[in-house]
Amino acid sequence: MTEIYQPAEDSYFFSEFLEKYLSKNKINSYLDMGTGSTILSETASKFLNKKNIFSTDINPTAVKLAKKKGFNAIKSNLFENIEGKFDLITFNAPYLPKDIREPKSSQLATTGGKRGDEISLKFLRQAKRHLNKNGKVFLLVSSLTPLDKINKFKYKIIARKKIFMEELLILELR
Ligand SMILES: C[S@@+](CC[C@H](N)C(=O)[O-])C[C@H]1O[C@@H](n2cnc3c(N)ncnc32)[C@H](O)[C@@H]1O
Repeated sequence: MTEIYQPAEDSYFFSEFLEKYLSKNKINSYLDMGTGSTILSETASKFLNKKNIFSTDINPTAVKLAKKKGFNAIKSNLFENIEGKFDLITFNAPYLPKDIREPKSSQLATTGGKRGDEISLKFLRQAKRHLNKNGKVFLLVSSLTPLDKINKFKYKIIARKKIFMEELLILELR
């Protein structure tokens, strides 16, 4: 069984950012890509009815947990099984370059591919089709993620936080 990513500094940073954002901006539908422990769905549920929150993950254990907590839970490899459009899509992506020392059980949550940007890039290519007019994407990456290819997308950095050895960045794309 693949373990669920336990909330860490990146999760708390994203959750605090999302809470501030949703307290000032009204949205009607939200997709929590890579929901993991459901931390971001739970934050969103302070502002939105759970029926308008869609929590998805490639990890069936995370999907089971999200279902148990009353979210619309969908098992999906990125947008493969996702239909429809949303006002907001977030992804605290697995952003680290592959490290052979990383145990297989946690790789799914932390490793973004050989370079570290592969999953984020796939996500960005697919996300646009799932945004409502004026919809937004928030993607969390790190200074350890190569940004040269991500830079081809039009984004702005809307939040950043230095943690041990790296800086976390939340990118906003429309
Ligand atoms: C860094 S964890 C973030 C979990 C949670 N959102 C948080 O902030 O604590 C990344 C999550 O993305 C999921 N994930 C990895 N690859 C995915 C993919 N291709 N499609 C959907 N989810 C994926 C992992 O299973 C994991 O739950």
